[in-house]
Amino acid sequence: KFIRRCTTQVSNSETVVSSEPEISSNIDNDVPRPGVDLRRFSDIQEERRQEALRSVLVRHVGKATEDELTKFCSHFGEVQNCFTYGNQELYTLLEYKSRGSVHSLLNTSHFRSILEILPYRSRLLCFRTSNWMDNASRRPGMGEMTADQKFSILATKLCAAQSMEEQMQVLVRETQLTEGETRLRFLVCSLVEDAITGYFPGCIVHPFGSSVNGFGNKGCDLDMYLNLNVEQHRTKKKKSFPRMEYEVRTVPTERAATQNLLSTVGQSLAEFVPSCRQLQYILHARCPLVKFMHEASGIQCDLTSNNSIALKSSELLNLYSRIDPRVRPLVYAVRHWARMHHITSSMPGGWITNFSLTALVIFFLQYTDKPVLPAIDALKGLADKADTCVLEGNDCTLVSDLTKVQPSENTDSTDELLLEFFEFYSNFNFKNCGLNLRTGEMQEKKNFDALYIQNPFEQQLNLSKNVSMHQLEKFVQLSREAAWMAEQPDFLQPEVGSKGWSTPWGLVSILSGHNRRKKRLMDQKEFTPILTPSSQGIPKGMSDREYTSQNLPSS
Ligand code: GTP
Ligand code: MG
Repeated sequence: KFIRRCTTQVSNSETVVSSEPEISSNIDNDVPRPGVDLRRFSDIQEERRQEALRSVLVRHVGKATEDELTKFCSHFGEVQNCFTYGNQELYTLLEYKSRGSVHSLLNTSHFRSILEILPYRSRLLCFRTSNWMDNASRRPGMGEMTADQKFSILATKLCAAQSMEEQMQVLVRETQLTEGETRLRFLVCSLVEDAITGYFPGCIVHPFGSSVNGFGNKGCDLDMYLNLNVEQHRTKKKKSFPRMEYEVRTVPTERAATQNLLSTVGQSLAEFVPSCRQLQYILHARCPLVKFMHEASGIQCDLTSNNSIALKSSELLNLYSRIDPRVRPLVYAVRHWARMHHITSSMPGGWITNFSLTALVIFFLQYTDKPVLPAIDALKGLADKADTCVLEGNDCTLVSDLTKVQPSENTDSTDELLLEFFEFYSNFNFKNCGLNLRTGEMQEKKNFDALYIQNPFEQQLNLSKNVSMHQLEKFVQLSREAAWMAEQPDFLQPEVGSKGWSTPWGLVSILSGHNRRKKRLMDQKEFTPILTPSSQGIPKGMSDREYTSQNLPSS
């Protein structure tokens, strides 16, 4: 999927308005964070939401061009930004300067036939010009690239970098969500919200998960949380008589209410909302959800309700992604490595989820000598009174003002941290120890779960309960292999072939699992990555091999 900013800005002024979020410089604080967005998470979310409310999504019919579209739309108000994407079908996300312009545009838009009338005015539109019949000259589809083809293109770019640290930066740049993709995600939430508002006035559909946590990849799913905002409709109970009360249907549990709600909302999406297809109801999961494909954006969506803690978890990850500039490259590298080695999977099951994997990275950064990241309790300690947040009886308070967090004294480079991460978990005592991100310390395991990561907000729960022993063993084994590769003398030596960079080195070796020495050893059937455990985790008087075999989780 290709998204780009429209270069022809059609408005009264000729200036192109930058859509990049403003990066605050921390002027009145002694702690400079170059390039870090220091705004509050809630402010960023609200700004994105307002942008989405000022936007429409338009499909180009036939040969209608971006120029024609923006020219037409500028009759209704000043166009602030537009992003066009698509292969065979072109779409433009168009943002007006004011929300009133969207209403003017919708008021003059037409329904094609009486059969297509919807119970609301959708902001998903189509634009046709006089030459709309000429569909033949639409650009040919490029076809989806295979995962191998995509990696081959990425690997070429990574191999051309000057250092492994630079490779990690390139990985972020190449795989992160772009500005246009992020806006599209907020707009899809806003379009779904438009449809649900008819039934539940005042509801809000929030994106959460990797679309907002700072670690989103191109093509990641869009996790949505439907908040009915019932509090605002609930009047304060007065014990006065006579009084009027709503007659309501009662359900046995809150879970049943959520299931009913999602089932109703899912049906209305399927019936009335253009572009929502392939609905699947997964109502008996621990967290009931409705899955669907939003065709116009090509985004796979997961809609949940009654899930406010998940939104708070995304805020927590987002906070960590901005506290230290090394966190994002590190998490992107680990997530990419895990995906390539099938440690994570989009299927439900015993795999480590991206959420758990990110928690493993954060814990390592909290626990390492000279911590890179503070513990959650420390973040809570910096919070203002206004930050106090209690959800479903759980204290979820976090500092919202990032400038209060002191920078780390740890000076390791990002690539050093990545290799330390692999070493750390190669030797971790998963059998007896759990991870506590609230304190940044290990804790004694209280049950037989293979991997125990205490849920940061629902502290009685294990957020990686689903992980099977087999998958944990695979993670440990592959961490050892990555750490072994990094110890090989040719690890950081790019070999220039006649056709440019042809041999994997550095990050590419780790991601692909290919390394010259490993290949030679595998050819000779002698490859067994035995790691020298880091001094940090080895009890005195124990050999490396003894330690390694004792601490591998046994199935
Ligand atoms: P992607 O794989 O890129 O979509 O990453 P993601 O961070 O969005 O993960 P995912 O879509 O699997 O989950 C979205 C949100 O659901 C996370 O941010 C968490 O809040 C929650 N979540 C996901 N997996 C778990 C889990 O295993 N345990 C708990 N407690 N929450 C989870
Ligand atoms: Mg997700």
